[in-house]
Amino acid sequence: MATTASSTTATATEVDSTPLRDIHLDDSLDRDSDFDVFEAFEVASGSRGDRIDPYPEFHRRRREVPIYHVPPGERQGYLSRDQEREQFIVYRYEEVNRVCQDSETFDSSHHAEGIGLLFGHSVLEMNGDEHHLHRRLIQHAFKRKDLAGWKAKLIPEAVNAVLDGFVDRGSANLTEEFTLRYPVRVIEGMMGLPPEHVDWYHRRAIEVISIMGSVERALRAAELLKEYFEQVIEIRRSHPGKGDLISMLIEADANGRKLRNDEIIPFLMLLAPAGAETTYRATGTLLYALLANREQFDAVVKDRSLIPKAIEESLRWDPPLTALGRRTSRDVEFDGVKIPTGAGISACLASANRDPSVFSPAETVDEFDLFRPRHPHLTFAGGAHVCLGQLLAKSEMEIALNLVIDRLPNLRFDPAQREQCFMTGEVWRSPSQLQVIWDA
Ligand code: HEM
Repeated sequence: MATTASSTTATATEVDSTPLRDIHLDDSLDRDSDFDVFEAFEVASGSRGDRIDPYPEFHRRRREVPIYHVPPGERQGYLSRDQEREQFIVYRYEEVNRVCQDSETFDSSHHAEGIGLLFGHSVLEMNGDEHHLHRRLIQHAFKRKDLAGWKAKLIPEAVNAVLDGFVDRGSANLTEEFTLRYPVRVIEGMMGLPPEHVDWYHRRAIEVISIMGSVERALRAAELLKEYFEQVIEIRRSHPGKGDLISMLIEADANGRKLRNDEIIPFLMLLAPAGAETTYRATGTLLYALLANREQFDAVVKDRSLIPKAIEESLRWDPPLTALGRRTSRDVEFDGVKIPTGAGISACLASANRDPSVFSPAETVDEFDLFRPRHPHLTFAGGAHVCLGQLLAKSEMEIALNLVIDRLPNLRFDPAQREQCFMTGEVWRSPSQLQVIWDA
């Protein structure tokens, strides 16, 4: 693992994590010394595999069958394999946006049969009033004021701590050594966990999101994390911290209603895939897109005010999550296609983001172009379930890119390993590797 100068995190300096230090860390999953969680994650997430480009097929479907009725034999990946349930995929911006915005008709209950089995009943799978109440309570912990504090200290310190591990070397695979590691440190810092727990938490978080590789290991890691968080919450109830996410969730109050442990834990569990995996992939894609388009990278290095534009464009160009799922709570019609109550709907965010009827210039939607006229992309979804961490994610990407430019001068792909670096993935997308060199 990259060196982690744990004493430099904001956790250590701002949030008193002393009361948590005595929690026993169950290391049963670490006893198998031949097993490398980070390598297993790469294999599970397909980064060792082949180049995958789903976009030509997205374009074809958007043109020819924009409301696609999926035959049972084709159900895989994020589509439920339930043979009884009708399933549809929508590809155009207009319908994808409608699915995101209308959370009454297109509800999120299907998550209970997937990610909910691992984490418990989280905000992601809630609907209606229950969802509304939980969003209100959780939003207490994502206020702009706290974000400003994280931007000023926690995020730069987390990014720098990870960069410290290899900055003198002049070469690295940035996906493995950098982008995979810093977002977990940010989340761990937000939760105010003790520095001694960073490595343990990071391993469990990666094991949970490697579920495609080993279901058994992911379930065990999820159990260990739940037991761990149970203890953290109990300690924080009697020793409240100042400014850490867990203490904020305990204190959050909506008309006298507070969150119970069994409501806080699924949310904390959700942060590994929702907050860390997404940001890991999005940062990798941003770096890939800029390095592959050298003149745009040079423009950003010269004028850092272009960074927010580069971030928005990379999020549009290739979002970490290509599609989100929903279930219809009533009969509905899309462009003449009747969709029955209880059907599964997949809204293809990645296809919507390259819809030439929305993004211009239409003939260049497949290209990364930070100077493109802005139009809102759907990478963070929209409506009631719109990503709660989008401002945080963009801040992390901005700080990461700024510090990479500052600390890895003349960054470029390693010509000897350029062929190994490409965008890949069907459901989750990011670069396979980022083999780079710089002037150390
Ligand atoms: C570039 C990075 C990110 C992307 C692309 C992303 C994308 C998304 C998407 C598409 C959803 C909607 C999922 C659905 O409704 O089925 C979502 C929800 C969510 N995201 Fe993010 N996310 C990112 C970063 C983060 C971060 C950093 C956090 C927090 C630390 C976070 C927390 C959440 C939460 C809690 C939800 C559930 C909201 C709800 O159901 O009401 N995300 N995200």
